[in-house]
Amino acid sequence: MSAPAANSIAVIGAGSVGSAVAFSLLLRQVVPDVVLIDIDEDMCKAQVQDLSDATFLSNVRIRQGTLTDAQHAAIIIITAGAKQRPGDTRLDLIDRNLKILKSILSSLQPIRKDAILLIVANPVDILTLFAQKFSGLPKSQVLGSGTLLDSIRLKRILASRLNVADTSIHAFVIGEHGDSQCVAWSTATVHGTPLLKVLPLTGAERDEIATTTRMKAETIIRVKGFTSYGVAAVSARICEAIIFDHRQVLPLSHWREEFGCCLSLPAVLGRDGIISSFPIHLNDTEQKFLEASAESLKKVIGGYAEEL
Ligand SMILES: NC(=O)c1ccc[n+]([C@@H]2O[C@H](COP(=O)([O-])OP(=O)(O)OC[C@H]3O[C@@H](n4cnc5c(N)ncnc54)[C@H](O)[C@@H]3O)[C@@H](O)[C@H]2O)c1
Repeated sequence: MSAPAANSIAVIGAGSVGSAVAFSLLLRQVVPDVVLIDIDEDMCKAQVQDLSDATFLSNVRIRQGTLTDAQHAAIIIITAGAKQRPGDTRLDLIDRNLKILKSILSSLQPIRKDAILLIVANPVDILTLFAQKFSGLPKSQVLGSGTLLDSIRLKRILASRLNVADTSIHAFVIGEHGDSQCVAWSTATVHGTPLLKVLPLTGAERDEIATTTRMKAETIIRVKGFTSYGVAAVSARICEAIIFDHRQVLPLSHWREEFGCCLSLPAVLGRDGIISSFPIHLNDTEQKFLEASAESLKKVIGGYAEEL
């Protein structure tokens, strides 16, 4: 087997999310070489066999690999970990997933110095913070998919109300990818026009949209047991922005000094990872929600302080 290409992406965790992420990377042809890795080698092999039936649509090579292959990847995506059962919050997963993250990142040493680590497993904001610590990479190279998925869910709802394309809406869900997230309503625009001017929503309507957005994963998990396609598409978009140095502004989980944790706020994404945070001008209510979201994350992190 030849060595992985310099532009390879390693996906660690080949379950529902990891396999869907690999499928998105394959169809979008983000890099020539995608490596899938799982502790359950038989299942990983079967996922790779299944995925390889789709490679006729692209020139991407998909193969099963090891953590040693991941050491050489340009982007390492971590989807390995327990998923929510119906009724679980994302924070309920922390004990199991922190252990898995720690063991994977210690086995990945020495990690390629310019690698970007993308955390997808939940609770994503907390795992991103610990991955910054465990990986030894600069904080700017370790990010979480964060509220990009929630923002896309929000945009879908708003776009359908306005009967315009999702891409015409600029709106961010910020804070935790979880229960304490909030919508930055005051900054939302439709092609430059303030959203609330073209769609004058009442407070109750805004709350309802924010709740539907926040609860969407739970609604899906209650019926099919997991979500995968949205996060897979989001992961492919993040990888494209990194590999092609797009400098796209996306709401991603990244280290924010003023909050002392990782949470989602708009950031410029490129080949070096988080190039910079992008300013967002919130009103007082939104700022308070964001601060409360950071506080709730830090409270959980405080319970694992010995790991930091
Ligand atoms: N960030 C998001 O927006 C988002 C969206 C959906 C799901 N998720 C999260 O993604 C994670 C995975 O979800 P899923 O539905 O794919 O779960 P899954 O159970 O289908 O897959 C998880 C995989 O991780 C593997 N694994 C466990 N420990 C490992 C280790 N040490 N090394 C390698 N592989 C290991 C398991 O064998 C399993 O195949 C969960 O934490 C879930 O909450 C995140």
